[in-house]
Amino acid sequence: MDLHILDHKLRVTSISKSGLVNFTHPLIKLIFLRNRTRCKFFSLTETPENYTVVLDEEGFKELQPSEHLQVESSIWLPLNVVSNGNASSSSQAVGVTKIAKSVIAPLAQQHVSVFMLSTYQTDFILVREKDLSVVISTLEEEEFNIYKEVGGEFLPVQCQDVTNGLQKNGKEAIHPTVHPVLIPKNQFCVMSLDPDTLPSIATTLIDVLFYSSSLKDDPQSSSSQDLDCINFFSFSLIDGYISLVMDTEAQRRFPADLLFTSSSGELWRMVRIGGQPLGFDECGIVAQISQPLADSDISAYYISTFSFDHALVPEEDIVSVTDMLQHQRKEPAT
Ligand code: ARG
Repeated sequence: MDLHILDHKLRVTSISKSGLVNFTHPLIKLIFLRNRTRCKFFSLTETPENYTVVLDEEGFKELQPSEHLQVESSIWLPLNVVSNGNASSSSQAVGVTKIAKSVIAPLAQQHVSVFMLSTYQTDFILVREKDLSVVISTLEEEEFNIYKEVGGEFLPVQCQDVTNGLQKNGKEAIHPTVHPVLIPKNQFCVMSLDPDTLPSIATTLIDVLFYSSSLKDDPQSSSSQDLDCINFFSFSLIDGYISLVMDTEAQRRFPADLLFTSSSGELWRMVRIGGQPLGFDECGIVAQISQPLADSDISAYYISTFSFDHALVPEEDIVSVTDMLQHQRKEPAT
């Protein structure tokens, strides 16, 4: 398997719900006017608590400092795994499940904090720039061929020699904090769209992204969510590819013929991880969720946001996933 270190330096930010009005101008440019910006990596996710914006330095320049904008202080680099054809794996699972054992678990073992961003096309694993050498030596141990994107080309990364700095298993067992989870009732779909047809869905997208709270009965409490459903919508435009994650209610508002999803057209249920905002330093949260999913070969998308993490699992598996998580809570994994 190949691992690519993509040539984007990313910032993880959040815009408060009430501060969104101050950012609509740059966001519209980043979403719809590709020719006016050199931003190549842009992701916007609305959750009940805020809007998470992950974007490269070119995009970040568009956002004016403001009391409504929170910026995580590190530079994050996106990695992704590319299977090079000779797929000997028997697993049919998609998403983060495929990389749970080879990437997510080993990084957690080395105390590397990640920030996950699954899209329709691939799963980005964001790591802090300062952790890169540990990341490279850890994943070299996992037999990855590692390439770094430089000016559009992928160059093999020279063997790192920090292996002796790596923590060997056993020494300090990790006792991950078990975070509370929330399982909202909405059904989600993970879709894509030809970027050339983006103008045809522009008004719907603007409505859904910027005016969603005005749909609620009580506009005063736009942040207090419905007890059963969660307000979650994610749009990303990364290296020319669009990915959308929305619930079936939002999906109905888009013209049916433009958005596409995988041929099986499956629906997904969400597990939101975290009671208090998770922060950025803790490691092993993604590992704790994706490991058991990999053991049961259950596909999953995984989207980290500024405050919480969100796993999406096939709706037919939500009962077994819920059981599995409850089990984990009773006897925390070792
Ligand atoms: N850093 C966590 C981990 O390594 C995942 C991200 C949690 N934090 C967040 N703000 N979503 O598992």
